[in-house]
Amino acid sequence: MRIAIIGPGALGCLFASLLFPKSKSADDSLWLLDHNQERANLLTVQGILYETDKGQERYQIPVFSDLQAINSTDIVLFCVKSQDLEDCLQSYLPLLSPQTLLVFLQNGISHLDIQERLKLPTAPAFASSSEGATLLGPGHVLHVGKGGTFLGFLSDPTERHQKQLSELARILQDAGLDVALSQDIRSQLWAKLFINAGINPLTALYNRTNGQLLTSCASRTRLKNIVQEAETVARASGITISVDPLKATLAVCMGTARNISSMLQDRRHQRPTEIDAINGAVIREGKRVGIPTPFNEEVVLLIKKMEEKYAQDTTMTAII
Ligand code: PAF
Repeated sequence: MRIAIIGPGALGCLFASLLFPKSKSADDSLWLLDHNQERANLLTVQGILYETDKGQERYQIPVFSDLQAINSTDIVLFCVKSQDLEDCLQSYLPLLSPQTLLVFLQNGISHLDIQERLKLPTAPAFASSSEGATLLGPGHVLHVGKGGTFLGFLSDPTERHQKQLSELARILQDAGLDVALSQDIRSQLWAKLFINAGINPLTALYNRTNGQLLTSCASRTRLKNIVQEAETVARASGITISVDPLKATLAVCMGTARNISSMLQDRRHQRPTEIDAINGAVIREGKRVGIPTPFNEEVVLLIKKMEEKYAQDTTMTAII
């Protein structure tokens, strides 16, 4: 299997590290793509450093920025931030054959309508993963917590793509991940959305790890209100909910207690966050189905203020 992973962020580096040791036969290849050429060169030289509680491994994964890897791949896994996916697809799509399986791994749900807007040549697959991964530096990922990963299609795939997705699931399972194919990926994406809606903005606002969110009454109450509000929206939208969203969110806080959430990592690096794709998407869906969303609106406002402050204040403290 020839796999390209686009985006050397926390999840991109995590999946690359887990897949690389498995890509050993002549037919197997793994590439990482980074639009930033300087960083791609650095990562090729230094390798990708994968760290867990048990120690570190360094993998010499080829990292490209010039797209040469793309035109001969079976699977392209897009691990870029939700807000960058559309631009990324615009530049990569002309290079991809319709045989290539596209897999989108983004937080939130705002990327779901992308296939309609961009008129993709084939149905992409969607992934939802609750693995806890923190990027400690360029190409250095800390795998801090185990979570489930689901893969599935929103519309009918070709037989070839269905097989490719099953093969990807098998390789990831061999790499030690808890992976399942889902017949209802939309509900899995919502299940992950509940978790991100509760954890991500609050970890960023309070400047706390996922586990630390549970240590104060104020943050626990806010988390509960946000998640339950999102659940009400989802139910009104007809989303199937098979696991209690609040219980699941609390379980992820505990299972990835030391994790610096992706939004807190964004805050610490003063990057734009995925708030629009997460809590923003809950608000938009709430409007569509007539459910008020004051708790989600509040955190969206606060995160936007935080983003505005990036430019002015480099030593910002929590906005609470
Ligand atoms: O965005 C994140 O950080 C992750 O999706 C999660 C599951 C909240 C763990 O930190």
